[in-house]
Amino acid sequence: MADAWPPAPAGPLALAPDAVHVWRASLRPPAEVLARLEATLSPDERARAARFHFPQHRTAFVAGRGVQREILARYTGLPPAALAYREGSHGKPELDGAAGAAGIRFNVSNSGDLALYAVTVRRELGVDLEQLKPMPDGMDIARRFFSAPENEVFAALADDVRDLAFFRCWTRKEAYIKAVGEGLSMPLDRFDVAFAPGEPARILRTRGNPAEAERWTMLALEPGPGYVGALAVEGAGWHPVLFDWNAAA
Ligand SMILES: CC(C)(COP(=O)(O)OP(=O)(O)OC[C@H]1O[C@@H](n2cnc3c(N)ncnc32)[C@H](O)[C@@H]1OP(=O)(O)O)[C@@H](O)C(=O)NCCC(=O)NCCS
Repeated sequence: MADAWPPAPAGPLALAPDAVHVWRASLRPPAEVLARLEATLSPDERARAARFHFPQHRTAFVAGRGVQREILARYTGLPPAALAYREGSHGKPELDGAAGAAGIRFNVSNSGDLALYAVTVRRELGVDLEQLKPMPDGMDIARRFFSAPENEVFAALADDVRDLAFFRCWTRKEAYIKAVGEGLSMPLDRFDVAFAPGEPARILRTRGNPAEAERWTMLALEPGPGYVGALAVEGAGWHPVLFDWNAAA
């Protein structure tokens, strides 16, 4: 079977209007790769990296931001160090300058040793990644963060599928919040996602503005053993193109 996350072709990449590229990358690159990535960071990113207490957190941040620059450079034609960002409303990072004006949009998520980067053109998008772990307090967290209909589905699940379902629901909700860009200011019980075993990722309903649910298409991502991910993209009719950043083309 073909690898679901193959290496990307070398060189600049073009984005078709109906394509969403999703990259998977390890946040534990070899030392020489980490040094190359670090050299591309902005003064602000270096200052933020220096504030991490634990070296593994610092490495993950440097790798995450460095890989982000190398990936976005391939779509913009700019060197990684020359990319500039601006904050959209509620702090969602966007590309500044000509690349932003050309409509290139991206979103990023990190968890454990992995990161996911989603890139497209002229569509808003959000991506979320979570490393699976046992959730003995999953029911309590669900009651706090999931909507009433989501809690009904969650409570009815068999014990052996509940932890995976928890992270499926969480990543799908988070991908949508990140696509909209409002972060924590968006009430999490204002919308319901599909997440029961076997159910395709989807926004089922958005309270207050029913048409909003139709505005987005969702996709479950399988970034590797022990991780789940989700992608929410504005509009329909797009297709995902998956790449592994670490694999050499
Ligand atoms: C940023 C946020 C949207 C997601 O954070 P997170 O899940 O902790 O972290 P992720 O790794 O998935 O995403 C972080 C990246 O999202 C991007 N981001 C930051 N603000 C964002 C926003 N408002 N919208 C979309 N993306 C944002 C950045 O690229 C950031 O990368 P950085 O850490 O290198 O700066 C967070 O503010 C948030 O709202 N979390 C909600 C938590 C929650 O209660 N979820 C319940 C789900 S049921």
